[in-house]
Amino acid sequence: MRIAVLVSGNGSNLQAIIAAVAARKIKAAVGLVVSDNLRARALTRARRAGIKTVCLEAKDFSDRESYDRALIKCLHDEKIDCVILAGFMRILSSGFVKQYKGKLLNIHPSLLPAFKGAQAIKDAFDYGVKVTGVTVHFVDEKVDHGPIVSQKEVIVRPNDTLKSLAARIHAVEHEIYPAAIGLLVEKKLAIRGRKVIRR
Ligand code: GRF
Repeated sequence: MRIAVLVSGNGSNLQAIIAAVAARKIKAAVGLVVSDNLRARALTRARRAGIKTVCLEAKDFSDRESYDRALIKCLHDEKIDCVILAGFMRILSSGFVKQYKGKLLNIHPSLLPAFKGAQAIKDAFDYGVKVTGVTVHFVDEKVDHGPIVSQKEVIVRPNDTLKSLAARIHAVEHEIYPAAIGLLVEKKLAIRGRKVIRR
C-alpha cells in the first residue's frame, strides 16, 4: 500500500502520519507528499523524512480540472493507492473525488456537521461551545461532508484561549488520524451510505 499526503501548511498531521508509518501502526509507505504551497513547512518535514515531494501551485493552472488532472498524474506515476488530505486548502473537483472514492480521507478540526470551513477551531471557540473536537471522514463531492470514520470530543475549558484549545485539538488529530488511516490501508473500513462500518 502506498499513500500520498496532500498538504498546504504546517504539516503536523503529516509528521504524525510519518511517525505512525515508522512504528508500523500504518502498514503503508508514504510514497508522495503534494503541496499547493511552495513555502509549506510540511514540505520540509517530508524531505527530512526522505519522502518524495511535488509542489503544484494554482497559478500554473487555468482551472480546477486541469490542476486536478496534473495531481492525478503525479499520484498515478507514484502508484498511489490512497490519498490523505492533511491541511490541504484546496477543494477537489468531482472528477478527482470520483477517481479516489473510498480511498480519500480528510481531517477536520470540529465535530462535523458543526463548524465546517477553514476556520473551524476559531468559529467553535467564538461561538462559545463547551464541547468541540475532531472528525476524520471520507471525502465526497461536498466540502466537509463525507461519511464519518471517527470523531473525538475535546472539552472547552473555562480558561481556554484559542491557542490552548487549538493545541489540544491538534493533539487529538495526531492520535485519531493515524489510527483511521491504519484501518483504511488494512481495508477494515466499509462505507454503507452515510455510515462507515469496521469490518
Ligand atoms: C488541521 O487542523 C486539520 O484538521 C485541518 O488543517 C489543519 C492542518 O494542520 N484540516 P497541519 O498542517 O497538519 O499541522
